[in-house]
Amino acid sequence: MTTVLLSLADWNPSRWLASLREVLPEEKVIALEPDGRFSGEADELEATEYLVAWKPRPELFARLPRLKAILSVGAGVDHLLNLPQLPQLPIARIVDPDLTARMVEYVTWQVLHHQRLGPSYQTLQRASRWRQLPQPAARELTVGIMGLGVLGIASADILIRLGFRLTGWSRRAKEVAGVVTYHGDGQLTAFLRETDILVCLLPDTPKTRGILGHRVFSELRREGPLGGPVLINAGRGKLQNEAELVAALKDGTLRAASLDVFQEEPLPASSPLWNMENVVITPHVASISDPATLPRLIARQVKRMEAGEPLQFVVDRAAGY
Ligand SMILES: NC(=O)c1ccc[n+]([C@@H]2O[C@H](COP(=O)([O-])OP(=O)(O)OC[C@H]3O[C@@H](n4cnc5c(N)ncnc54)[C@H](OP(=O)(O)O)[C@@H]3O)[C@@H](O)[C@H]2O)c1
Repeated sequence: MTTVLLSLADWNPSRWLASLREVLPEEKVIALEPDGRFSGEADELEATEYLVAWKPRPELFARLPRLKAILSVGAGVDHLLNLPQLPQLPIARIVDPDLTARMVEYVTWQVLHHQRLGPSYQTLQRASRWRQLPQPAARELTVGIMGLGVLGIASADILIRLGFRLTGWSRRAKEVAGVVTYHGDGQLTAFLRETDILVCLLPDTPKTRGILGHRVFSELRREGPLGGPVLINAGRGKLQNEAELVAALKDGTLRAASLDVFQEEPLPASSPLWNMENVVITPHVASISDPATLPRLIARQVKRMEAGEPLQFVVDRAAGY
């Protein structure tokens, strides 16, 4: 019998455990407590072949001598690749229609919020003022997606149907229907110069960390109908330099921002971002991994590997995502 271990940091594992046991009825599925303790026998832990993980503790790996693969419960794998004692085993991430649909909703919600002048109307409402503002059409705005991967391409697809002009920037050259594409450091400026609304869906890697700073903000298009560029970051908080972000939002380099992720999470109460009228804050919920749907993908991965087939959605450790 194959043993699958759940280690979900501070999340409550009970729903994941129940769903995973349902889809893997013939395997032994065990879980660590949110505080990292294991309440079963040590030999049960030692038998673990698959680790299903969110932010596992680095010392866990020394207790798993039979481990064959690590399955991230998120699309991002920075929580694994940053660990000092990570074994050289295949790591797979989540690529799932439910997770993708949730991110597409978030991106579309925030793009429309800014296109329809949501921040300005909120300010007017607080002052009990009835005032109609000139409304830019979707076709007048270019949404630039930084990170044209699974989530970026799916978001672009819906935004194109709403009438926006779409551009995208990725590491390698790629063709995406309806999207003007750019790639690599050499084409970053050209991409930014066209962009009214910058949507960041990059992974956190040594190359991308801190990329959302003054240089990027100051190269965005300033002549667009929104009166200044907008940032939407649903990638990772470590991508953004928050001191430079706050400065850009104060001095008008950025007109507004929607932020789902932060350098430090939870965002400290002392952060000036909380009280800025031109900032929308959500607490890292753009696309939450759902214990009702994702265990099916995890079960498929375990069954594939047990049948001698390769895992899907394997992370490129050299590239960092
Ligand atoms: N806020 C949330 O709730 C939430 C939920 C899920 C995911 N996320 C974040 O979203 C990220 C993207 O997920 P995904 O499934 O779309 O990932 P993905 O399919 O791996 O796509 C990543 C994209 O980023 C590009 N990229 C990576 N490094 C780059 C670099 N140095 N320069 C330029 N482009 C670079 C990749 O380029 P190539 O196309 O050339 O490979 C690719 O287009 C995840 O890593 C995670 O951090 C956040």
